[in-house]
Amino acid sequence: MSSNITAVRGREVWDSRGLPTVEVEIETKNGTFGRGIAPAGASTGSREAVELRDGGTRLGGRGVSRAVELVNTLVAPALLGHDTADQAGIDAILDGLDADPARSNIGGNTVTAASLAALHAAAAVRGIPSWQVLNEAPTQIPRPQIQIMGGGAHAAHRTAVQDFMVYPLSATRIADALAQVAEVYLSVGEIMAARGPRHGVADEGGHWPDVSGTEDALDVLVAGIERAGLRPGVDMGISLDIAASQFQSNGLYRVGGVDHGTAEWIEKLLAICRAYPVITMEDPADEDDSHGMRLAVAGAATVIVGDDYLVTNAQRVRDAAAAREVDSVLVKVNQVGTVTGGAAAVVAARENGLSVIVSARSGETEDTSVAHLATGWGADIVKVGSITRSERTAKWNELIRIDEALGGLPLAPVVTRRAQP
Ligand code: PGA
Ligand code: ZN
Repeated sequence: MSSNITAVRGREVWDSRGLPTVEVEIETKNGTFGRGIAPAGASTGSREAVELRDGGTRLGGRGVSRAVELVNTLVAPALLGHDTADQAGIDAILDGLDADPARSNIGGNTVTAASLAALHAAAAVRGIPSWQVLNEAPTQIPRPQIQIMGGGAHAAHRTAVQDFMVYPLSATRIADALAQVAEVYLSVGEIMAARGPRHGVADEGGHWPDVSGTEDALDVLVAGIERAGLRPGVDMGISLDIAASQFQSNGLYRVGGVDHGTAEWIEKLLAICRAYPVITMEDPADEDDSHGMRLAVAGAATVIVGDDYLVTNAQRVRDAAAAREVDSVLVKVNQVGTVTGGAAAVVAARENGLSVIVSARSGETEDTSVAHLATGWGADIVKVGSITRSERTAKWNELIRIDEALGGLPLAPVVTRRAQP
């Protein structure tokens, strides 16, 4: 069957925050098509690909009708006739449609949805799952990292820290890991209910952090792990996304009304990593605070992850690796805009001995691309928010299906600090 593109359609659909987002369908012969939906961040890095939003009064200016129009009038004619099997070629065409590498003219959301649609179209035309387009024979399923409590920009800054996650350590299969995390989620809910009335959920489906601060949240998390019959640090580790850019200004980190300079702030985090079984810690310092990132890597036994700090940019990954500013790379396709750009960040990570975490965004949909990318790219970890709400479970459930289709694979090994050269 011909795998050349015969139609490209864009439309405005809805994400988990009730905000519009771009969906693209790319069709090949006989109505076979792939669909991609752009996710959206809340705590975005300033160097990410720029979203194209309509502005004005409709939906608080968040509409994407202009982006959809560009899919139909600009992206479609550029891609018609091209071979979906050539993802790099398609992504190069998408790159060429915007003179600005930040994609401010046609939108990172426009490009992301189109690039993901092309990947899924390439799979559909061959009658195979999308992970298989990226890798014929994966040998592992990425180990999940799952939010139990959401804070920061995802919970009206109820806590400074954005993401209190667990990271199953002893589970060897995805289904078992998810079941363990579900037990922890329930246990933490019971502990929080016993402390008083609960106040709903955070943006990615985690419990609203009704806690007095970071240490209190971690105490509840450890208690939840134990209540679930698991050993903290042995069966279940903790992962934190500090998302420090969110509360840093003028070189100071403001937490609980108190300002901390970089060295003092990082030392506070390192003390937390020593006191709790924190296996990975993301963005401990601001996106421009390379000194803070280096201090964290130098001082922690914990794996230091770059998200806003790296923005899925292969060159930034290489530079940060050379300067010893990260151990691990968070990969979000919509930070860079294309599947090929995401793959380049993965390659840069691997060439420099860094581990790879493929991540969803806080604004998500039923799109399951992340499960396929994480498996196809051989990621160490996959991160999609909590184990509740359908935009999250869509990905976890897809991973269960992928594992089954592959005959049952081991989970990727638990990540460790990058080896010293
Ligand atoms: P975001 O958060 O999607 O709101 O940027 C996710 C993360 O920081 O990992
Ligand atoms: Zn992050």
